[in-house]
Amino acid sequence: MVIHVELGASSYDIELCRGALARAGELINLNRKVMVVTDSGVPAEYADTVRNLAKEGYQVTVPQGEESKCFAMLEHILGVMLDMGFTRKDAVVAVGGGVVGDLAGFAASMYMRGIDFYNIPTTLLSQVDSSIGGKTAVDFHGYKNVIGAFYQPKKVIIDPDVLKTLEKRQVAAGMAEAIKMSLTSDAEMFAMLEEADDIYADIDMVIEKALLIKKHVVECDEKEAGLRKILNFGHTVGHGIESARGGYFYHGECVALGMLPMCSEEVRSRLVPVLKKAGLPTELRLYEDDLREVMTAVSHDKKSAAGGIDAVLVHEAGSFEIKKLTLAEIEEKTKKIFSPR
Ligand code: GLY
Repeated sequence: MVIHVELGASSYDIELCRGALARAGELINLNRKVMVVTDSGVPAEYADTVRNLAKEGYQVTVPQGEESKCFAMLEHILGVMLDMGFTRKDAVVAVGGGVVGDLAGFAASMYMRGIDFYNIPTTLLSQVDSSIGGKTAVDFHGYKNVIGAFYQPKKVIIDPDVLKTLEKRQVAAGMAEAIKMSLTSDAEMFAMLEEADDIYADIDMVIEKALLIKKHVVECDEKEAGLRKILNFGHTVGHGIESARGGYFYHGECVALGMLPMCSEEVRSRLVPVLKKAGLPTELRLYEDDLREVMTAVSHDKKSAAGGIDAVLVHEAGSFEIKKLTLAEIEEKTKKIFSPR
């Protein structure tokens, strides 16, 4: 199926279809120089498929992990493009997860003031969330995504078949983002996830529903001035846990945990079984020192603004409230859920 994202001159289609990767040559214009950016954790055959379909294909494979979202990698990609004589008419294709998409998209946005960018996400997390909406960035001086640009892709190709090679824990981490979107925006989708015996049985449906939510949010608020903030549900405390626990949890697992302090008792009692069914963590013991570390990281988050942090609260499934909370209020909520009793 095709989902159109309407953003005026920056509009594009998302092709959601099993087998779409092998048809990349029909779906996007590869009849030129193409820089394929991938990472060492992505099965080589996926990037090879795209590169071999290109008229003149090149490839940069960055090491797997957040550390690759840096200026050195960006410079490397841009350097290869320059050395190989890429012009404004050529293209960059990301084949991988969120790190690859952010890095490749940012390189495309900068090269000769912007060339065509295509995203072929290969993780569930990037398929339901990060490949849509044009956020591109690198990390800088210890801050995530602090240097970047909104740069929309020309097309996004989502092939659920590629998920068969993805580690189960990574699939679950992506499911956390889909659950997140259902909780703020689609009560029916949340009920569907709640009722499913096997939450992964109809993954195509989960991807489609999540994409429709993301499309709507991005169309309403491309640059995150308002509504797009709801995609940060679970991320405030989640990011805190992510940096305090230094790589122990995947991003999506931190989002799962980070949603718990931000919902009502009623929603939490429905959310916990859904997270468990998805194979996501629901428990964490934060002793005084851990809590301090989490809160320090929360206060360093670039989205923290003077006068408080825009937190997303869910009092009822399918709806949200964006409310400025002080650090003390966030700490109180976090403590209530994660302090050992
Ligand atoms: N992943 C959050 C956003 O796209 O705004």
